[in-house]
Amino acid sequence: MKDLISFRDLNREKVEAILHFAKKLKTSPEPHLLENKILGSCFFEPSTRTRLSFEAAISRAGGKVIGFSEMGSTSSAKGESLKDSMKIIGSYADIIVIRHPLEGSARLAGEVTDKPVINAGDGANQHPTQTLLDLFSMKECQTKLEELNIAFVGDLKYGRTVHSLSLGCALFNMRLYFISPSQLAMPDSICSELRKRGVKFSFHKSIEEVLDRIDILYMTRIQKERFEEGDYSKIQDSYILKKEMLAQVKPNLKIFHPLPRVNEIDPAIDDTPYAYFFEQAANGIFVRQAILSLMLNGEL
Ligand code: CP
Repeated sequence: MKDLISFRDLNREKVEAILHFAKKLKTSPEPHLLENKILGSCFFEPSTRTRLSFEAAISRAGGKVIGFSEMGSTSSAKGESLKDSMKIIGSYADIIVIRHPLEGSARLAGEVTDKPVINAGDGANQHPTQTLLDLFSMKECQTKLEELNIAFVGDLKYGRTVHSLSLGCALFNMRLYFISPSQLAMPDSICSELRKRGVKFSFHKSIEEVLDRIDILYMTRIQKERFEEGDYSKIQDSYILKKEMLAQVKPNLKIFHPLPRVNEIDPAIDDTPYAYFFEQAANGIFVRQAILSLMLNGEL
């Protein structure tokens, strides 16, 4: 496996190898693991967690970072093609991480350079490393992945994190509950893929319908940047999780969110035992360190 573009590039064995190594790195850091390696960090779209956790991951393991965090500071602003940019960066770096607004951009990058390419989010398509840190965090807080009950809430149409994660959950026989306004439902293409793989899932309009039976509540942001202004204002407050809604939940419930959040999780929830989104984000470092190392060593 040269590139990590979609969660479909991984099987259960590879996922378990990444999670196992990430756990080892969280317990016993390896400060020389990526010594002399250079990460090309190419963010054509805004990011806080993905970019900085990839950069921290390689820096804390002895490697270095080159890159950019906005398209305007690169020669893309002068009209250079993505193909040319990636070819050049591939000649400077040992591995490339790319986030780009266009679906398929990461795959294109992988095709034009010999260096490994990791998709850090391509439009509404995929975000496979987010899924790996989600699975790592679920295992950490629930002690298992097999047969968990998980509800996805919010923008399931444009949310690349939930597109990747639903495929990740399929590997571990999880039961999925999809909660969204009808215009933001999980795409048919993902649903038919899940059906073929025998995954059990159902569609719901409210969080309350499923709250008493789930282990993980995966909240997502309605993404303003994917809508026209008028359309966004109609649905922006579709789901707001309040502390008082958690009265009847399972004691092991954990609330996840890929972040950033806007108003969909009341900050009063942050101090409850159910909140796990900050731990989830912090785990990005170990998981991404494991991915970088395994890919650079050709072990995936
Ligand atoms: N979860 C996630 O992708 O966050 P950023 O957009 O901050 O990278």
